[in-house]
Amino acid sequence: MALEERPVEKLDRAVIFLGPPGSGKGTQAKVLAARYGIPHLSTGDMLREHISKGTPLGLKAKPIMARGDLVPDSLVLKMVADRIDREDCYHGFVFDGFPRTVTQAKYLGELLKQHGLNQPFVIHMVIGRSALLKRLTGRRTCRVGGEIYNIYDRPPKVEGVCDKDGGELVQRPDDTEEVVAPRLHAYEKQTAPLVSFYRRLNSLDDIDATKSVEEVQQQVADSVERIRGAR
Ligand code: AP5
Repeated sequence: MALEERPVEKLDRAVIFLGPPGSGKGTQAKVLAARYGIPHLSTGDMLREHISKGTPLGLKAKPIMARGDLVPDSLVLKMVADRIDREDCYHGFVFDGFPRTVTQAKYLGELLKQHGLNQPFVIHMVIGRSALLKRLTGRRTCRVGGEIYNIYDRPPKVEGVCDKDGGELVQRPDDTEEVVAPRLHAYEKQTAPLVSFYRRLNSLDDIDATKSVEEVQQQVADSVERIRGAR
């Protein structure tokens, strides 16, 4: 079905959160996806699920993620294509952690064309490196629902327990100081070039990610509404 035949209240757009590890992509992507009733697609979460299930993909990705490198495109692209083929992506989706290389971005452009969707809209989370270490080493995630906390800035009411569903809060194995450095390096080298890639396409907004979660949320909502109004 062509884009103009779809219900107008839907987002009908792929939104990409682009920013360094710990910039708040996951925190904000979940909220935005819930607001528009579209899926939140985190390639990091998908890969971690493969690892926990011990799939062949997970077995290959595990040591790569443990040392903070990017998983090769050959493993990531098909996983993404399969996911956005599913019916729940029909009215758009929110990507968190994809694309991460220019090759991935070009591939996504082709996939979106095939799905009848416009250029993606990119939320660029701008934040300096110094703020990220505390955010990453302090992060705890609910094992059940994936809710994200921070022991310094967003602690749960009861230590180690999710406020929402009582699930156990766990630390990601790549959130140690030793692995954060190579992750930031991979971002600067392989992913940061996407900022100028998407800026050239006129589909990127800079967001001040140093602000509080609520203030960032407002900036993101305003940005997406502006795009909706402009189309
Ligand atoms: P992935 O899971 O995507 O991790 P990441 O990009 O490193 O990003 P993070 O999840 O660490 O941070 P975030 O920006 O989502 O921040 P969050 O909201 O959690 O990828 C992991 C690995 O998988 C990669 O290293 C790679 O190996 C592989 N991979 C994934 N996708 C791939 C791809 N496309 N290609 C190849 N390889 C891929 O927030 C962080 C903390 O800060 C939390 O504690 C939160 O509470 C806190 N916080 C958030 N916002 C604020 C705020 N405004 N103020 C204060 N604290 C805040």
